[in-house]
Amino acid sequence: MNFSEVFREYEDELKEVEKELYNIFQSEAALIPTIGSYIINSGGKRLRPLFLLLSSDLAGYRGYKRVILAAVVEALHTASLLHDDVVDEAELRRGKKAANKIWGNNIVVLLGDYLYAKALHISVAQESLPIMEALSKATSQMAEGEILQLMKAGDPTITFEDYIKIITGKTAGLITAACRIAGLLAELSYDRLQALTDFGHNIGIAFQMIDDILDYVAEESELGKKLGKDLMEGKITLPLIELLKKAKEREEIIELIKQEFFTEESLSKILNYLQKYNCIESSMKIAREYIETAKGSLSLFPPSPYKDTMFRIVDYILERNR
Ligand code: IPE
Ligand code: IPE
Ligand code: MG
Ligand code: MG
Repeated sequence: MNFSEVFREYEDELKEVEKELYNIFQSEAALIPTIGSYIINSGGKRLRPLFLLLSSDLAGYRGYKRVILAAVVEALHTASLLHDDVVDEAELRRGKKAANKIWGNNIVVLLGDYLYAKALHISVAQESLPIMEALSKATSQMAEGEILQLMKAGDPTITFEDYIKIITGKTAGLITAACRIAGLLAELSYDRLQALTDFGHNIGIAFQMIDDILDYVAEESELGKKLGKDLMEGKITLPLIELLKKAKEREEIIELIKQEFFTEESLSKILNYLQKYNCIESSMKIAREYIETAKGSLSLFPPSPYKDTMFRIVDYILERNR
């Protein structure tokens, strides 16, 4: 079963998630549903809801709360993208003009705030403190990760550990919460709940690593975002950390990173070095190790078709091109 087959299997339930997502955007302030529809219809992959649903099946919870919480998680993700695009001055998101380029930064920042708060508000109605804890923790972690990232921008002394801290906050935290919430809904034993939480953390890390690799090597039309953006923003991500570790031209590379006005020419120089030192391959290898660790955490769960599906979707993280 490949990714689209898994997706098809959950299609009906994901439509329900979509409906709940629309509800989160309901407001008297008409711009909120307007921008909401624009974003919802622009076609995100809905991976976080899918992880929550798959994890629920693995854990054995099939009630409707999983649909609402999947929508809440997607809303938190959407809020983080809105803020991220303001901070990154992004032009493109999901192949369309980024919301900040249409409605401006002020509105988009406030819409992000609204979404964070509304999503958490809706989750209160689920009457579960541990679920609230998972969601609110992920939310604060996301902002923390983005701030840590800004603090490290342009700093060539950034370590692999710094990088892991950043991506744990900005990306893995929410994916961890998605998987953990499924375990909480299913009232799993402590060990299994922890296993599912660790699983989410490790796939989340791998997911952002692949995003950072794709920023260098994807097809722009498939990715729906501008290529080379991380470097232009001074974000030193895994491929570049690998390069700084290996290249004998380190000083020249640092000069390139520090340029005030980054050019296409500097980007292609960096791309050549990445190729020369096999940094894309070595970064892929690291991401693969996180995926393997994630799969290992599921050993506490007996073999089942749900577990097979989880493994498939996890492999997709490594193979994806958007
Ligand atoms: C983009 O996430 C931001 C990252 C954390 C890498 P996705 O790649 O899941 O974005 P959509 O929702 O599919 O657009
Ligand atoms: C992920 O970081 C952003 C969030 C988790 C909000 P990126 O800045 O790499 O995400 P993209 O590449 O813009 O989607
Ligand atoms: Mg960005
Ligand atoms: Mg990125």
